[in-house]
Amino acid sequence: MSLENKNILISGSSRGIGYEMAKYFAEICGSMVIVCSRNIENAKKVSEFINGKTYAIELDVTNTNNINYCIADLSKKIGKIDILINNAGYRFDKELWYKNLHEIEDDRFMEIIDVDLMGSIRLSKAVITQMIKSENEHKNKRGGVIINISSTPALSGHIEGSPYTIAKSGVIGLTKHIAREYGIYNIRAYTLALGNISTDATYYSMDDKQRSRAEEETSLKRWGKPEEVAKIASHIATDDFSYSTGNTIIIDGGTIMI
Ligand SMILES: NC(=O)c1ccc[n+]([C@@H]2O[C@H](COP(=O)([O-])OP(=O)(O)OC[C@H]3O[C@@H](n4cnc5c(N)ncnc54)[C@H](OP(=O)(O)O)[C@@H]3O)[C@@H](O)[C@H]2O)c1
Repeated sequence: MSLENKNILISGSSRGIGYEMAKYFAEICGSMVIVCSRNIENAKKVSEFINGKTYAIELDVTNTNNINYCIADLSKKIGKIDILINNAGYRFDKELWYKNLHEIEDDRFMEIIDVDLMGSIRLSKAVITQMIKSENEHKNKRGGVIINISSTPALSGHIEGSPYTIAKSGVIGLTKHIAREYGIYNIRAYTLALGNISTDATYYSMDDKQRSRAEEETSLKRWGKPEEVAKIASHIATDDFSYSTGNTIIIDGGTIMI
């Protein structure tokens, strides 16, 4: 699948990795990118920085009605979504991150599960409903690609951030399930398990000591760049990956090797 003129929705594309993916898909791949933020003004502002085809929407992945409305509206205005990237993630909350599992209240736990895991499930459900429709019902071809953004603690475990690890582990299960259940509809699914990628939420919120510790963990001895994630995401979305689905692709500079 060439990505030119494909409709791609990237949740949480107002900044960080989501923004870089939006920019790359629009400017380099020639796709039509749906730029999403929980604040429509923000989504519109961000879209203006992208030199390509974009459409700004207000999307909160914790809100099923909002999701269903957006996907139905997009279907009328631009057609079905060909590629979905479930990227939206709960903000980095230092206090919660360093709390022990047994000390975290259920509702705080659920806040992260609600965005990172349930948000990916909700959006996948809405988009799959469109992807499985036949060509008679839709002008675009049946099928599509779903890319879920996870994290390396979901594979290795981690001593901190239990709600995050658990939510991101569920995301890997979601990918595998979509690949199995919807392969028959020509839907492919992948997980990108990310290591340390420099964004405001990570690199720029750490002190020098924390940054160099993260760097030292990797084989390549450096942080990853959001553009490097965007490049890999764009490759797996193409037909070059047509006989590969359900996979977890690790992007961590060679820290975890399986
Ligand atoms: N950076 C890393 O090193 C790293 C490593 C492993 C995994 N990841 C994962 O990669 C993804 C992006 O990370 P990042 O560092 O770029 O994060 P970020 O800079 O904090 O961006 C998070 C994005 O998610 C959106 N968001 C938050 N809550 C939302 C909600 N309820 N509904 C819809 N959108 C919501 C935000 O949009 P608005 O505030 O505009 O709504 C924002 O665009 C996350 O899933 C993260 O867990 C990152």
